[in-house]
Amino acid sequence: MRIGILGNGLMAAALGEQWVRAGHDVMIGGRKPERAADLADRIGATSGSLQEATAHGEILLLAVPAEAAVDTLKSLDIEAGRTLIDCTNSINHRGFTLDEPAMAEAISQAVPHVHVVKAFNLAADAVWREAPHDFEGARLGVPLCGDDPAAVEQVGVLVRGLGCEPVFAGGLPRARLLEATAAVAIGVWAAGGDVRALFPPVGAAFGAVRPGD
Ligand SMILES: NC(=O)c1ccc[n+]([C@@H]2O[C@H](COP(=O)([O-])OP(=O)(O)OC[C@H]3O[C@@H](n4cnc5c(N)ncnc54)[C@H](OP(=O)(O)O)[C@@H]3O)[C@@H](O)[C@H]2O)c1
Repeated sequence: MRIGILGNGLMAAALGEQWVRAGHDVMIGGRKPERAADLADRIGATSGSLQEATAHGEILLLAVPAEAAVDTLKSLDIEAGRTLIDCTNSINHRGFTLDEPAMAEAISQAVPHVHVVKAFNLAADAVWREAPHDFEGARLGVPLCGDDPAAVEQVGVLVRGLGCEPVFAGGLPRARLLEATAAVAIGVWAAGGDVRALFPPVGAAFGAVRPGD
């Protein structure tokens, strides 16, 4: 698949490297050509401007800070019907609250001709860099929210390629729940807690309780 990555930071590096390794044709797009070229050289991708990466990708990853997301997209000419992965989190790191509760919806409103899929926002770049992960026999689940089934499936293919399991989590209005979940999870991590302990398997959590009990 031809993948255009908008941004040359940590998420671009983690996912870009995995996708190059999986055989995808990745172009890193940066606002500063030398930084995009640096990352591309490190991971075996090509590089260009943000617009060049936009034109390159059948599928796009938006990997810039939340506060720059809408302006970045508005400055670009994106072909109608493209799939855009939104991994942004707008988290206030002082109190681990959300500055903006619905990045995915703001992004979708900025580029209504594009199919936005929320994905990869729940785990840190180091997790994606080291994927696949196996937790006691279970693959890492990656929740996806999007309104266009074909776009969600396209992102699902990339998720499976990382050795992870796509989990459809509903339409784009539900993406704000993933953004809130990320704020809670990062707050727990930052305090030294174990996020996995919050979401035990259903059997362990509910014991013998059955629906209707
Ligand atoms: N890192 C994580 O663990 C993680 C996990 C889940 C989700 N996310 C989300 O993923 C997104 C990217 O995070 P990251 O960790 O990759 O960030 P990062 O390492 O700080 O990289 C940010 C990228 O955005 C560019 N950028 C910064 N300000 C910009 C602006 N005003 N206009 C256009 N481009 C700008 C930077 O370009 P320059 O190099 O030119 O400054 C850089 O390429 C964020 O929305 C974050 O919330 C991050």
